[in-house]
Amino acid sequence: MPIWDFRFGDADDNRTSPYGTGWKSLIFANVLEFSYLKAALAFLILIVIPALLVGVAPSIILTYSRHTLGTVASVGRKPTLFLLLVLAVLIVLPLWGGRRFLSIGLDIFRHLHYTLVFPIFVALREVLRTVSERLPGMTFTQEHIHRRRRIATVFAALLLGVAGLALAMSVELSVGLKLVDAGRVAPWAVARAALGNAAMVFGFSTAASSAIWLWRELRVVEPVLDWPQPLQPAASLFRVAHLSDLHVVGERYGYRMETGTQGPQGNKCVFDAMERLAAIHASRPLHRVLVTGDITDAGTRAEWAEFIDLIEHFPELRSRMSLVPGNHDINIVDRTNTARPDLPWSVGKALRKLRFVFALDQIQGDRAHLVDRKSGSLGPSLSHYLREGERPKLLRALAEYGSVRGRLEIAKVWEAMFPLVEPAIEEQGYGVILLDSNAPSNHSLTNAIGVVSPTQLRALRSVLNGSRKSAWLILLHHQVVEYPVVGIRLQDRIGLALMNALDLLAAITPHAGRTVILHGHRHVDWVGITGKTVLCSAPSVTLGMQEYRGRFSIHEFRVSPTGGIQITANERVKVSPTIRSLDGLDRDRIQESA
Ligand SMILES: [Fe+2]
Ligand SMILES: [Fe+2]
Repeated sequence: MPIWDFRFGDADDNRTSPYGTGWKSLIFANVLEFSYLKAALAFLILIVIPALLVGVAPSIILTYSRHTLGTVASVGRKPTLFLLLVLAVLIVLPLWGGRRFLSIGLDIFRHLHYTLVFPIFVALREVLRTVSERLPGMTFTQEHIHRRRRIATVFAALLLGVAGLALAMSVELSVGLKLVDAGRVAPWAVARAALGNAAMVFGFSTAASSAIWLWRELRVVEPVLDWPQPLQPAASLFRVAHLSDLHVVGERYGYRMETGTQGPQGNKCVFDAMERLAAIHASRPLHRVLVTGDITDAGTRAEWAEFIDLIEHFPELRSRMSLVPGNHDINIVDRTNTARPDLPWSVGKALRKLRFVFALDQIQGDRAHLVDRKSGSLGPSLSHYLREGERPKLLRALAEYGSVRGRLEIAKVWEAMFPLVEPAIEEQGYGVILLDSNAPSNHSLTNAIGVVSPTQLRALRSVLNGSRKSAWLILLHHQVVEYPVVGIRLQDRIGLALMNALDLLAAITPHAGRTVILHGHRHVDWVGITGKTVLCSAPSVTLGMQEYRGRFSIHEFRVSPTGGIQITANERVKVSPTIRSLDGLDRDRIQESA
């Protein structure tokens, strides 16, 4: 009799799991494994250099303005046609040629804002919300929870706004040639002055953002509530399966990062879910199968290969499947070492995006369309777009050699492709909009934070405004509103947050009544409403709390000729009888017999 069965896993499978090793050991191991040199380099490139650029910008603008005004003055003294022409060229040239630089500058500023200001606001808001929910003296109806959270958000926005103004007022603006004159540069003085300028710019922009968040929060009067009971089940037209967080692993006996040996092994639970779904589809056909992210556990090649192999067994489900990327598909740097930071240009991140794009192309490349950024109308299908020009060659080179041009190309593709749109299949149907809600992350500490980029929000608004009689299912990985219950852990509220959820809601709310939001990420089973906006949160097929895990939902929708969409029924399907299933074998039985 063997002393130990390899198939049961061992301590190596628990290295990244707080459940397997405990938080203390995990933190200790992370401190030891952390690459401080890489982290310092990443900090320099992602924070310090962009901040210096932002700080130098006021000097460049003011110096240029003085130069231009000087020219204006001289033109005033001698207003010849020639000098007017020179002046026009002086003004128009930088505007024309500098548009590219301007957009790069705005990108740098936005990146810094999302990296520094948004997380501070979310953390402050959630701390205050948590405190407000712990204050004694009230019963916790969902309306009360909403009211307390609103007050906490208003306080957070005010506090941050005042802090931003205080920061801006406490720093002196450095302007003039001393920052941009290459002949008289004193590096440390320039750096100090530029960082001071950056602090002032961010102070003011933080105050402005806080004012916007405050205004948004004050406009939200509708509480977040559980979805009321079904309307008219008999009138349902569309049946849609909603699964999430499959966390497919790449090894037959592999465990998942989060749960280690305390969780399910292999992919049997996912296979069981698909098998059950296929049986449901055979008895009452499903219109679509929606999977809201974390399809894989760490976005590795082996995991994607397993997933593609698995759904090959279910062609009927595969042909109606839609996917969005989750943080585990894109942002896990190393599934065996959560301490490992990454650099923004790393091949690992590029490959994880590439794998998702390839999977999407195989599964729904012909159905999903890009949105033309200029016109807001539907562009080419994803498959068509990916095969334009030398793009296939570049992407293949990335897959094969990790080429630098391939990395640049996948970054471009990723930026251009979301939101993807699947138009309605038939008249009086509904379309599907797929969003990428993953914030750029280079470390496991921040891998699960979400953000929907401003370019996606713009395209989403165009699609919704341009189709006023269509109904839409909007898919993303991250949750848009917090569940209306008390006692949610602070680390979940901050670490798993969609930072600009208010911006997303503001884009969707004008179209409430003809949109439904579906997401995963929190591994929680919930259907709710805020105002007229319906939200469906799918649990994980493999992970999460005992009461939710191993489940998925079948939603039934009724779509009206004017694009109105209503959920008429919601059926929860429980799949895995036990999460300790060992790829077809029962672990406990094997242990007993061993
Ligand atoms: Fe997940
Ligand atoms: Fe997730």
